[in-house]
Order: sequence, then C-alpha cells, then structure tokens
Amino acid sequence: MVEKSRIACERLKAKVTDAEHAASLIRSGETLAMSGFTGSGYPKAVPLALANRIEAEHAAGGRFQVRVWTGASTGPELDGALAKADGVEFRLPYNSDPIAREKINRGEMEYFDMHLSQVAPMAWQGFLGQIDTAVIEVSGIRPDGSLIPSSSVGNNKTWLDQAKQVILEVNSWQNPALEGMHDIYYGTALPPDRVPIPLVRPDDRIGEAYFRCDPDKVVAVVETSAPDRNLPFAPPDEVAGQIAGHLLAFFEHEVAKGRLPANLLPLQSGVGNIANAVLAGLLTGPFEDMTAYTEVVQDGMLDLLTAGKLRMASATAFSLSPEAAAGLNANMAFYRDKLILRPQEISNHPELIRRLGCLAMNGMIEADIYGNVNSTHIMGSRIQNGIGGSGDFARNAYVSIFVTPSTAKGGKISAIVPQASHVDHITQDVQVIVTEQGLADLRGLSPKQRAEVIIENCAHPDYRPALRDYYRRAREHSYGQQSPSILSEALSWHQRFVETGTMRA
Ligand code: COA
Repeated sequence: MVEKSRIACERLKAKVTDAEHAASLIRSGETLAMSGFTGSGYPKAVPLALANRIEAEHAAGGRFQVRVWTGASTGPELDGALAKADGVEFRLPYNSDPIAREKINRGEMEYFDMHLSQVAPMAWQGFLGQIDTAVIEVSGIRPDGSLIPSSSVGNNKTWLDQAKQVILEVNSWQNPALEGMHDIYYGTALPPDRVPIPLVRPDDRIGEAYFRCDPDKVVAVVETSAPDRNLPFAPPDEVAGQIAGHLLAFFEHEVAKGRLPANLLPLQSGVGNIANAVLAGLLTGPFEDMTAYTEVVQDGMLDLLTAGKLRMASATAFSLSPEAAAGLNANMAFYRDKLILRPQEISNHPELIRRLGCLAMNGMIEADIYGNVNSTHIMGSRIQNGIGGSGDFARNAYVSIFVTPSTAKGGKISAIVPQASHVDHITQDVQVIVTEQGLADLRGLSPKQRAEVIIENCAHPDYRPALRDYYRRAREHSYGQQSPSILSEALSWHQRFVETGTMRA
C-alpha cells in the first residue's frame, strides 16, 4: 500500500489515476520518453500496464508498437515487459535488458546506441524527432507543481520540457531524503547561444534541486511504491583483484612522478562487474580525500564513501545492488551531502570532463593489438549493452583507462585480438589497458610500440604466442608498416569462434 501521499500540489493531485488508465492515454506509434538510468528511477507501473495492453491488442490481431527513449538502461518492468510484448519498434540510447537485447540481435527491434551526453542536446536540436509522451518517475510533487527527482536524473529535464504530454509516477519507495540531493542545470542552450557551463569542481552546485514542469501538460499521476530493481554485482574475484592491483600501482606511480595529485583526480568508473571491482581495490589503496565525477554511483563507490576514502561523488544515477540500495536508504543522512545527481548531459559533458581531468576507468569487450577498443559488440555483430558514457569520458579524460579480464567464456575467447571486430574507442582515445596479466601504458607510443606492450603485458599466456606470431608475420607481409596487418587474417580469430566455439587454433 502507498504511504501518505507525496503529492503536495492540489492541481496535480486531481490527476491521480491508475496505471491502466494512464497507459490508455498512449497511442501506437508514439515516441515515449521515459525516466530511468541503469536500473534506477524508471517508471514501474505505467510501462507494465502498457505492455499488458499491447499484449492484449496483439492477441486480438492488432498491432501496437512505440518508440522508447530513456536515460540509459532501465528495469524488467520497462524494457523487459515492453520487449516481451513485442511493443518496441525503436529504442535509444542504451540497453542492458536481456529480452530487449535478444530482440535487437534477432533484428526485431531497431536500436540507436549513442553517446549518453548527446541524447538531450540531440533532442533539443530536433535531430531525433518529437516526443509525444514523457513517463517520469519522481519521488514527490511540491505545492507549486515542481518535481522532486528520484534515484536517477538522466534526461528527465529534457523529456519534461519537450514532451507534448506528461505522465508522472510518484514512487513512495524512493527515500524522501533524496530531496535536495539533485542539481538540475537549466543553463544549456543551442548553438550559437551556448555559454560555458559554470562548474569547476566536482562538488559545485550550478542548478536547482527540482524539475520544472508545466502542470497543464500532465495528463495523469500514478502513485507507486516499488523498488528499483538492479542486479547484484558479482563479488570481486581473483582476476578483478589483480586488475585493481595493477591500476593502483599505476596511480601510485603517477603520483610519485608528479603527474597526479596525492588524492588523484575525479574518478569516473564505468558499469559492470570489473569496473565495480576496481573501486573495491581503491578501498585498500593509499589514496584519501578522493572525489568522483562519474555517470553512476555503484556499490564500490558507496563503499568508498562509507570508508571515508571518497569525499563526494557527482553522478546522474545510482546503480546499486539491492543490498547496497537498502544500505543507502538506511543511512541516507550520512550520504546525503556527499552525493550530487545531475542531468546526464552534465554528468557526461565533454567540456566538464576535460576541465576536471577525470580518470576514466571503463570495462570493455576486447582491444586489438593497436589499442582500438570494442565496448559493445560480440564478434562484431551482436550487441551486448551499448557505448553508454564510455565515449564521453574516454575521449575527454585526463587518463583514459580500459579494463577487462584477458579472456572470456572460460578461456575460449581472447580479449586481446589482432583486430577489434568493432571499434567504439579509437586508439587515440585509449591510453591505458589493464587485464589481470598486467597494464599497458600506451601514452606516447606508436602503433608498433603499442602492439608489443599490449601483447606482452595484457594478453593471456595461452594466446600470447599466437599474437606474437601474427604480429611478426604482419610486419613481414603488411601493405604498410605504420599499423602492420594481414587483412585476410585480422578477423580470423572471431570467425573461428563463430564456427567452432573457440578462438583457439
Ligand atoms: N567476447 C565475448 N563476450 C565477452 C567478451 C568478449 N571479448 N568480454 C566479455 N564478454 C561477455 C561476458 O562473457 C559476459 O557475458 P555473460 O553475461 O553472457 O556471462 C558479458 O560480456 C559481460 O562481461 P563481464 O566480464 O561480466 O564484464 P562487465 O560486467 O564488466 O561488462 C562490458 C563489460 C564491456 C559489457 C560493460 O562494461 C559495458 O557494457 N560497457 C559499455 C558501456 C560503458 O562502458 N559504460 C560506462 C560509461 S560511464
């Protein structure tokens, strides 16, 4: 049951209805812009009701599909339910739902995977088309109709401004103490009217604590009381511990060289188990008084705050395991002034990442011997999740670091390959690669120098001889000698995996 109403605005209280009625206000073919970022702050009742309605329409022989935009990944009640109902014609900008992933990889759903910082600007520029309905989860509505954001900010400001009509979900599961944690910047503009964003430290507040919202556009308000549903992280294993160890040694070396301050620079840590494990490594490291200017606050970051190692974190969303979310909720008073949630166009803004000098640490699928990184595609064609914010951070970071175990699928796949089967981050945007085998510092190295250090420091010993052999023959037979390659063989490891289930010769 829903606790005492969190809707303090009489005009909007009058629009309270159930999820089924709210879903009936959405028409087939619409573009729905929903809240939600890495399993936080997504609407939980209306998408589910919409999915039920779509299933019923399909069972009756009709056709009902919508276009879905979000902040990033959401939860099973949104992406999972709508994909299962075959209700999504087009999706942007990031997905990690397994049912939606399968639909995309079967060619049954169009997916526009884009840099997360660019979604809001592109929507404003008109490049993506018109938003029909925004469906936004909030944690409360104030007397003047302004909205208290919930556990993610994402693109909500833009969705609320741009949509023709708005449906609100007011979720009383969200901690009321979230109020005041958000910093919603209303100073963005379109060229030629853009001005510098006045943020010079990760802790700067440059905006407002609430979303503005035109009450006339709100067509329905639905009260919910449902948890964010994030998956637990895999506990850091030995491989993750080794990766973290190499990275920590690198940071210590950079501090000793005077290239990093003793408390490092603002940390950015990507999504996924390995990125989370790297944060766990920092818990035992020598660095104090750290800050984070990042996309999501995951378990490892919360642990660093708890331990007092991290002074504060700025992000656009939480991405917490159920246990960590419970811990955050129980101790919100402790965390509240140490966390700032901002729109994703600000958390991931290239201007700010470059100004602050973020240390970007992101997971990857594979890297090639020249340091091109694939973050998104398995065997060059199957999407895993999406580029997310990795490109926003990698290109603009002070140091851009990519981490991965040296093998995947029980050793049948090498994460270091002759040529990446898909490239998200070109070699110029990749400065450090870390596997459990070691760390390759690629700064200032030519492609041939990069190949040698990546093969020797990062490749798994089972695959190192074959990589050395490929590289040696490439140097003998390549058309050119800047980035030696045997074109007919460069992707043969992937082809072998597709045909035989292993990259091993
Ligand atoms: N070939 C084939 N599959 C691979 C692979 C490779 N080289 N490397 C990883 N995988 C598979 C794993 O086997 C696993 O599959 P499973 O779920 O079927 O078991 C899956 O990819 C996830 O791998 P895991 O080792 O658990 O890594 P992770 O949770 O750290 O995620 C990424 C790694 C690359 C998928 C993840 O970091 C990602 O989506 N990155 C892109 C977005 C991003 O960087 N966002 C951060 C911006 S702030």
